[in-house]
Amino acid sequence: MSPSSDQPQETTLPPIEPINPSLVTFTIATPHQRILSWRLNGASWASPLTLDQYVGREQTLSETELSANGGTLYYILHHRDDPELIISACEVTSKRLVIAGPGTNGSKVGNGYAIASVFTNPRFRNQGMASYLLKRVQEEVDKRGDECGVLYSDIGRVFYTRLGWKDFRTPQLLAGIEGDATAFPVPEGVELLNEDQVRKLCEDDVKAVEEEFSRLAAAPDGKTHIVFLPTPAQFSWHFARDGYVCPILRNREVQWRGARTEDGLAWIAWDHDLREKKLKILRIVSRHSAEEKKKAVKRLLLAAMAEARDWDVPKVLVWEPSEEVSVAATEIWRELGPKVSLVFEEREDGSIPSLRWQNGENREVVWHHNEYYGWC
Ligand SMILES: CC(C)(COP(=O)(O)OP(=O)(O)OC[C@H]1O[C@@H](n2cnc3c(N)ncnc32)[C@H](O)[C@@H]1OP(=O)(O)O)[C@@H](O)C(=O)NCCC(=O)NCCS
Repeated sequence: MSPSSDQPQETTLPPIEPINPSLVTFTIATPHQRILSWRLNGASWASPLTLDQYVGREQTLSETELSANGGTLYYILHHRDDPELIISACEVTSKRLVIAGPGTNGSKVGNGYAIASVFTNPRFRNQGMASYLLKRVQEEVDKRGDECGVLYSDIGRVFYTRLGWKDFRTPQLLAGIEGDATAFPVPEGVELLNEDQVRKLCEDDVKAVEEEFSRLAAAPDGKTHIVFLPTPAQFSWHFARDGYVCPILRNREVQWRGARTEDGLAWIAWDHDLREKKLKILRIVSRHSAEEKKKAVKRLLLAAMAEARDWDVPKVLVWEPSEEVSVAATEIWRELGPKVSLVFEEREDGSIPSLRWQNGENREVVWHHNEYYGWC
């Protein structure tokens, strides 16, 4: 998709100007510096929004329950002699997580963080500025006692690994759908959900995940198990994002945020990514027994396909598909023939999940429920 005309183009990069850590100030951005940073990084990330629309989206996200009141801190390096000259920037959002493993004495709910939107002004690239910013940020989060951090790399595995981040595998299922709306009805026995309904389900889900971790802690295996909690605030952050973008790009409000089975034991939530033209599954939950689970997950996937079809979005994306998701998707593919195509793959081009433990400690970590809800 071609960027809007009022956006700066990364193809017309300015000449590089020398910079080094002694010439920059590391700080939390003022509201004005935040806007300057967004206007700068919009060159990479605004499209297909205009720069002004993109800045509006970022402002909206900064006011969500997850990010407001210091939930997201906007760190920058600016030029020592000019606070308006942004050199590098990134965002650090607080996250709740649960850990079970050596040293936790049962399972423990703790604080973590997510780093996103790492960016260097094109005038100052390849001079170690992003690396310097991240080292300073890492010192800050370690000092405040966060257990560990997450980021999703769009620039491969090398850059962040050098800074002490451990990259993880990226299995995903991409289901293509083709055909008119009649080919993808919302299946019987499924109810569509609005944001409030998803938030209520998240509250129960958080408790269930905490219980799951208590059980894990009771059977120690020497590894550190972690999960970022699927909190209502986390989901509303995604809903604020597509809730901002969809009316602009499609002149249409988002109504449905997910679906649940009639018995209430299984649910799914999704994000409409019109930029990538994918319906991204935030989370799939089923508290059914094994056989019932497959049937429930199948109905939920069909509901997601119906939503994708309704928005004329040709793909449904599931991160870390469980066995039930894989089996259910395969059954759908068998039944719907050429209307559905499935690709099980590893993502290498973007969103590579990476973790860093406090003080760069090296641990063998098992990451549970590494689904799209945790992305930011
Ligand atoms: C990625 C970025 C933040 C690096 O900033 P920087 O200040 O130039 O970074 P540093 O000087 O500390 O490190 C440069 C390293 O990053 C690597 N890098 C930059 N862009 C990269 C990319 N797209 N893919 C892989 N590596 C990349 C460089 O190759 C260089 O590695 P080298 O030291 O082996 O030569 C900057 O290029 C940028 O803003 N890019 C656009 C936004 C973006 O993609 N952000 C990352 C989101 S996960």
